[in-house]
Amino acid sequence: MKETPLRDDPPEEAERPSIKPPEGSEAILPEPGTLFESNPVSLDVLGELKNQSILEAGQFTFDQVTELCKLAAVLEKLEIWPYHPLDGKIAVTAFFEASTRTRTSFESAILRLDGKVISIADGSTTGQAKGESLADIGEMFNAYADCVIMRHTETAAPEEMLQNLRIPLINAGNGSGEHPTQALADWFALLKWKPALAAPCVNDSEKMNLGILGTPGSMRAVKSFLLMALLFQDHIRKVTVISEMADPFGEDVIQCLTDANIDYEVSNDVREHLPDLDVIYMNSIAFLGDSYKNMDSRFKLNSESPIKESAVILHPMARLGELDTSLDKTPHNLYFSQAHGAVFIRQALLLAVLDRLGPLENMINLESNKNS
Ligand code: CP
Repeated sequence: MKETPLRDDPPEEAERPSIKPPEGSEAILPEPGTLFESNPVSLDVLGELKNQSILEAGQFTFDQVTELCKLAAVLEKLEIWPYHPLDGKIAVTAFFEASTRTRTSFESAILRLDGKVISIADGSTTGQAKGESLADIGEMFNAYADCVIMRHTETAAPEEMLQNLRIPLINAGNGSGEHPTQALADWFALLKWKPALAAPCVNDSEKMNLGILGTPGSMRAVKSFLLMALLFQDHIRKVTVISEMADPFGEDVIQCLTDANIDYEVSNDVREHLPDLDVIYMNSIAFLGDSYKNMDSRFKLNSESPIKESAVILHPMARLGELDTSLDKTPHNLYFSQAHGAVFIRQALLLAVLDRLGPLENMINLESNKNS
């Protein structure tokens, strides 16, 4: 397909979508500029993601995650979207399982960069309802789009589609498997909150105690968050996992924790550990087979919980009773920033995977250097 060149200048009438915290709120929506203003984005590192399928958090390097976050910060801060960088590109969003945020933030990300979307919001509208295989559906998608963004209840679904798919597949959640782009959104929120995370290491006194209220072995967002956390292990003093399960990990995660040699503990006593935690990641929706259930819901937080004054809370949402709305307007609330930033980190990922970084090069370097 012939590619439309980017415009030299954005149209004068261009307006940025505005993101504001709730009225009267102390919720954190950190300034994105600090992530890239004295530290220009490396397009060489991001170029490594060209034409790559994105299947699991562990496939990323530290540099790829930090450069994606820096590019996302550029996209959040600067007016790049009027340059139509995804013009001519088509993505299929194929969701065989319910979603509020992931599908709409991916579609928003694409549409705001002037790409186009074929949206399958309900898998029962595809041939799968008549017994068609994902391998066959994938063969068809090769001809219709430039990438596929798929969510499915089955952990094996990405593998099945990849049997015939020859365009990049982005895993938007597969059963109890992984949710790698959620992990990118999580770490983008954390890097904006604490830009020092983008540097390779910090002093011992600056290391964080990371708390997870959830079960990585059954919660894909929690699992991907934890696996991506291993890239930032030089910034982490200890990981505390608070779960209903005595063994909340599963064999593959245990192996990754062992290989990383990271200090971790498992507990079922939230009150004992809460006052020590700097970052609290929570979730309560677990996948068992192809259905989901509420798990770890007795670990509830509200504005009266004994949370460290400086601590932040992340939650991939949807929330049930475990994260009380009384926390929404407090400075512990990083979860709205996490959800808002998802559009920009997904834009950064799509620009890298769909090989549309080149035309942005001058703009990114100019803006980065101008502010350094
Ligand atoms: N975070 C997340 O995956 O949300 P959705 O299920 O609404 O997509």
